[in-house]
Amino acid sequence: MMTTRELQDEIIRLKKENDICILAHAYQSHEILEVADFTGDSYGLSKQAATAPQKNVLMCGVRFMAETCKILSPDKHVFLSNSSAGCPMAEQLDVELLQSLKAENPDYTVVAYINTTSELKTICDVCVTSSSAVKIVKNIDNNKILFIPDCNLGAWVEEQVPEKTFKFVHGGCPTHLRMSIADVERAKAAHPAAKLLVHPECLAEVSKAADYIGSTTGIIDYAKNSTDREFIIGTENSILQHLQYECPEKSFYPLSKDCVCHNMKLTTLMDVYNCVKGAGGEEIILPDDIRTKAKACIDTMLTLGE
Ligand code: 13P
Ligand code: SF4
Repeated sequence: MMTTRELQDEIIRLKKENDICILAHAYQSHEILEVADFTGDSYGLSKQAATAPQKNVLMCGVRFMAETCKILSPDKHVFLSNSSAGCPMAEQLDVELLQSLKAENPDYTVVAYINTTSELKTICDVCVTSSSAVKIVKNIDNNKILFIPDCNLGAWVEEQVPEKTFKFVHGGCPTHLRMSIADVERAKAAHPAAKLLVHPECLAEVSKAADYIGSTTGIIDYAKNSTDREFIIGTENSILQHLQYECPEKSFYPLSKDCVCHNMKLTTLMDVYNCVKGAGGEEIILPDDIRTKAKACIDTMLTLGE
């Protein structure tokens, strides 16, 4: 049996030999982040997918992230490290429902969280991620915004762009929705000196109690650069482990022990090893018409987000 270190060394050797770029979302385990060429939030991964020089890309994350890579890099072979890893929020809204919402609101710009299927993206105007949403919505040349599917992220954006009119549908992240105001009260009582850092997918009442709201990378950067020494983390709990490595002198507490994304946790280091060996994962194949139509709203995201 190989040790973790031996497995990681083999992955690093094989990814170079087979010209593979490994992209890992910040919710992956530390041992996976250590073998990745790039780690980060959804926006950072999208940008990296568009510019990676390798012929092959391995996405350690969930399906919509691998599909975004394929859309941006059609000539590359793009693999999802564990084919069962999906984002439940991405499946919450289907094309028929969005078509009828668009018909009811013809003068609205459809802003889709990137956590959506490629098929849905074909009928959206622009994608956003948690770290780029405010800037992109401000840059859209329309004051009427139909924001799908995460209404908590949408409400957070609305607060920062009060000059625009928003409409939402009722979607959200089942992982982040597990955190409640009771968790906030409990965690603050246990750690009164700690700053509360949360992801904008949290319920509005949780976000309102926070000292900082931001993407996964935003939360990591805030904690790293802050002069404070204690933090309550209101996002997927793998971020706590990454922060402990980054800032060993600081203390991090979970807002809730239940904030675990089981889909993000499906990928193991052994999956990554099998993929770089050519014996695992799923190659992402998208029909040409879906890929080209979905690309428009991802390209607009990258343009308006810069
Ligand atoms: P980020 O864009 O912050 O990485 O979020 C992605 C995600 O799925 C959060 O649940
Ligand atoms: Fe989807 Fe939520 Fe998991 Fe992010 S944390 S991948 S939004 S289910």
